[in-house]
Amino acid sequence: MTMADLLSELTLAEKAALCLGSTFWHTAPVPRLGIPAVMLSDGPHGLRRQPDGNQAGISGSLPATCFPTASALGSSWDPELVRRIGAAIGVEARAQGVGVVLGPGVNIKRSPLCGRNFEYFSEDPLLTGTLGEAHVTGVQSQGVGACVKHFAANNQETDRLRVSADVDERTLREIYLPHFERVVTRARPWLVMCAYNRINGTHASEHGWLLTDVLRTEWGFDGVVVSDWGAVHDRVAALAAGLDLEMPPNLGVSDAALVAAVRDGTLDENLLDRAVLRILRLVDRVPAADPPPAPDDPTSGFDVDVHHALARTAAADCAVLLKNEAELLPLHPSAGDVIAVIGEFARTPRYQGAGSSQVNPTRLDVALEELRAAVPAGVHVPFAAGFGVQTTDQDHQLAAEAVALAARADTVVVFLGLPGAAESEGADRPHIALPDNQTALLPRLAAVNPNLVVVLANGSAVRLSDWDAHARAILETWLSGQAAGGATADLLLGTVEPAGRLAETLPLRLEDTPAYLNFPGEDGHVRYGEGIFVGYRGYDATGRDVSYPFGHGLSYTTFDYRDLTATVTGRVEDGDLAVVVSCTVVNTGRRPGKEVIQLYVGAPQSQVARPIRELKGFVKVDLAPGTAEPVTLTLSARDLSYWSTGQRRWVLQAGPFDIWVGRSSRDLRLSATIEIDAPPVTVRLDAEATLREWLADPAGADVLRRVVGVDASGRPRGVLGDQEAMTVLGDFPLRTLTAFPGLGIDRTVLAALLDRVETRG
Ligand code: BGC
Repeated sequence: MTMADLLSELTLAEKAALCLGSTFWHTAPVPRLGIPAVMLSDGPHGLRRQPDGNQAGISGSLPATCFPTASALGSSWDPELVRRIGAAIGVEARAQGVGVVLGPGVNIKRSPLCGRNFEYFSEDPLLTGTLGEAHVTGVQSQGVGACVKHFAANNQETDRLRVSADVDERTLREIYLPHFERVVTRARPWLVMCAYNRINGTHASEHGWLLTDVLRTEWGFDGVVVSDWGAVHDRVAALAAGLDLEMPPNLGVSDAALVAAVRDGTLDENLLDRAVLRILRLVDRVPAADPPPAPDDPTSGFDVDVHHALARTAAADCAVLLKNEAELLPLHPSAGDVIAVIGEFARTPRYQGAGSSQVNPTRLDVALEELRAAVPAGVHVPFAAGFGVQTTDQDHQLAAEAVALAARADTVVVFLGLPGAAESEGADRPHIALPDNQTALLPRLAAVNPNLVVVLANGSAVRLSDWDAHARAILETWLSGQAAGGATADLLLGTVEPAGRLAETLPLRLEDTPAYLNFPGEDGHVRYGEGIFVGYRGYDATGRDVSYPFGHGLSYTTFDYRDLTATVTGRVEDGDLAVVVSCTVVNTGRRPGKEVIQLYVGAPQSQVARPIRELKGFVKVDLAPGTAEPVTLTLSARDLSYWSTGQRRWVLQAGPFDIWVGRSSRDLRLSATIEIDAPPVTVRLDAEATLREWLADPAGADVLRRVVGVDASGRPRGVLGDQEAMTVLGDFPLRTLTAFPGLGIDRTVLAALLDRVETRG
């Protein structure tokens, strides 16, 4: 039976029922027509399949591999790695009878305070979009649907079900939408989940511009829009705006409202049919479980060891070596050496965040045990907790034991991090500091042993500026999943290379963060006052120092950049403009290592405010010592454009563009300037256009001068010949000037102008 046939068989009540789930985790089946229910489960970095299909709770899900969270994966800058993880999650979903995985989460990290930042990739839309695309591609390669979320501008947890994200259109287009656009147009996810919040006053679930005009008409999305769990307020308005599936179902209420609205004519039945067809298509896309899920052994059908090994490699690829004075890392211990391990997190791992993404891991590596198992024979690895993780108060006994241990060690490795309660879905953080009982310990340890390495476990940026100086080496591991402990041992001992780069800036102080004055808002509104200057775009624009910049990350080897070329090909007018940027990267050290080549672009003479530089390309390469790799990245016209709110389109302004290639947003190794030729940026020349806008346009200026004319001495008449009046009145629209006598622009002149100038839009 075709979809259309199936649709025609459905009663109005059945169609309405299909637009809501049947349980907390299932779509509605229609047994009489053989339409099965599809199971949806969280989440982004591993499966959270609740054993009972109608269970709202967070804990007790079936065991699944807990891969590194997005905070870590963002730092991998490695789409292939993220694709492999997506595919592994897809395999586990099939094994557990799940048809749709609710992830990836791709919201932008607007402020480090967002309690859910650990579930998001980056402060940058290109990095976010590239990794989101890879994740979706991986999951869907297994015949399982991915659901990109939360669409859109869901950048805080405070008042998340009601708050209106008040964002100007250019900022939406340049910062909060491009990554969704990339995922939707390139990876074609089966579902998009709308956000809880409102956008400029309208709930995301009822936002027709967002859910239909942009998502479907502009980007060609052909899948299902599902609500975030509980995001629907008015089922009929939501359906009309483009929301197909309500989860969890408000049974007996939402379905009844849809039926009544169709019956009384307030809802066009065609809109209901459109949503039903999309849901039927989703059901059709989900293959029958193969092999059938075995509830008694939820991990049958996937290789737990293989996935754990992938989680371990991934965690190392995500770890960011922030500093490494005198090459303290990797450690090279020999028999008799003492590596003091300090910090409760070495024994009680912090490896994921709290909330709907929380995975029940198949196993859990403990860094202390892994390190002990990995060191050469005769190396001692004693442990002291140093502090408690349930409190921020200092425990003097624990601290004293740790200091005594550090004093007799060759090297001290301190495991610090945020307590679990500090980072969770549902609440933002009040500050970005590590607990006092951790930071107070560091100077005491450093005083007795300068060979101090800090290993960090946290899902969002923390302040380092108050303790950084006490550590010779800092390894940021983020929340890196169930194998983080093993990966940390590998990294400390140099079995693997730290290959991560910061996907978010680590600021010196919370007060420096671009959203500081406008987060989390009040009275139901949060104003995105920093506009497009989010993350490094903001720190660079205001010239602020940071602890560690976006893109930063050291390696155990060193890299050199050579031979930059930037060549413009094609023409804007022909739609084939491209800038081909090439350089060569050389591993100049003695160890293998992975390098992330980052391409930034700036438009120094832009007529609109633009960031000094923006990430527009990147690639990660794996280089053996002494080897060189040529790298080529290509920019399109869109990469050089800004969103013009006036013209409601991407605009490329002619002029010079700066091109930088480097290791981070502030370690730019090579640069070039290219000249871009493009048609002049024009405004619509009508009665509302200002005098200056008419004069700035060559055709408009010509017509204006000819119509206004010159006096006997050849001088332009009226305002055009009066420099002082021009200064004062240049920003007046022509329509307004027609009421001002003596300026040479009366109604007749205006009519003649409008008649002669070709109106462009
Ligand atoms: C979260 C979503 C999640 C859903 C289902 C919501 O509270 O915002 O990310 O997928 O619950 O658990």
